[in-house]
Amino acid sequence: MADSSGTVERPALKNDRYLRALLKQPVDMTPVWMMRQAGRYLPEYKATRAEAGDFMSLCKNAELACEVTLQPLRRFPLDAAILFSDILTIPDAMGLGLYFETGEGPRFKNPIESKADVDKLGVPDPEGELQYVMNAVRTIRRELKGDVPLIGFSGSPWTLATYMVEGGSSKAFTKIKKMAFSDPQTLHALLSVLADSVTSYLNAQIAAGAQSVMIFDTWGGVLSPRDYKEFSLQYMHKIVDGLTRESEGRKIPVTLFTKNGGMWLEAIAATGCDAVGLDWTIDIADAKARVGDKVALQGNMDPSMLYAQPARIEQEVADILAGFGEGTGHVFNLGHGIHLDVPPEHAGVFVEAVHRLSKPYHK
Ligand code: CP3
Repeated sequence: MADSSGTVERPALKNDRYLRALLKQPVDMTPVWMMRQAGRYLPEYKATRAEAGDFMSLCKNAELACEVTLQPLRRFPLDAAILFSDILTIPDAMGLGLYFETGEGPRFKNPIESKADVDKLGVPDPEGELQYVMNAVRTIRRELKGDVPLIGFSGSPWTLATYMVEGGSSKAFTKIKKMAFSDPQTLHALLSVLADSVTSYLNAQIAAGAQSVMIFDTWGGVLSPRDYKEFSLQYMHKIVDGLTRESEGRKIPVTLFTKNGGMWLEAIAATGCDAVGLDWTIDIADAKARVGDKVALQGNMDPSMLYAQPARIEQEVADILAGFGEGTGHVFNLGHGIHLDVPPEHAGVFVEAVHRLSKPYHK
């Protein structure tokens, strides 16, 4: 048994349905996981978080981060685990001073305001300032014992930049858009150092044991089509080009998720990613007709559907499965993160329904 900083034991995968579907290889049923599957809708998460103190202390403790990663898997037969961490670890490691104000989401002590601020930023060392993330990856891989694959992740450069320039969460994105349109060179310099940082961070997660990686572009959809290509997609493309695509003798599938990106599926699929994440504002049948020959699709139930009664949840799952139709290339998921006040039993109904109702589509 190795410790969190040493070599890890890597037993053969018992359930590789999720990896196979991303690579469009045949599966026995549609794999499913839930964005933000570890989190506050689970009482056991709240208990572990209370033990850790605050959210970042939880992320920085490999044993506790591993514990909360595994919690949803003990309850539900999910087909993948996702590293417990946050997209804002990179800006934090760059010196912006991340903190969480109760009930207000993430904030930065030192937001980016000028070219001089950008010039001070360097690419963080994944085995230096971010080693706690790699230690969590190694610990989780060890504790998963090959049950299901582990997903590593990062934010997209554009999404990270929105938090770094706005100083936290935003609704109107006025500061970053002001930078984009009045001083694009500064924003491009920021996006460039972020793209290099994300590439090195994800490659380090793969080296530490992540078996697939996903890029969350939560805020790409607030841009116009031209600006999306210039400020978001271009940099995700650069990251895809720089990623390690094979490890431990297996392909490492890459998933790009732009919330509200349904208009741009062809452009996203053309980056060379393996899968595109969909939110619920697009019909999965349309998405499949447009890009299903190029990439796998992940999604796309409205997370608010988990407030509905079980029969309604099952109906929605059935409709989405029928929309995708026969064959592989679909990873079932919510179209965004699970809400914190959803009854955990409803998440169980959802996962069970995907497995049971999808079997006829995989004969
Ligand atoms: O999916 C998982 O289970 C893995 C863990 C995960 C977290 N954040 C844990 C978390 C993942 C994949 C993320 C990604 C993330 N973080 C995104 C992209 C995905 C998305 O939802 O669009 C974004 C935009 C963030 C930034 C972030 N982190 C925000 C806006 C917040 C506050 C939101 C909130 O619900 O309070 C966080 C904190 C955060 N990250 C929590 C969790 C479980 C809640 C912290 C807590 O326990 O209080």
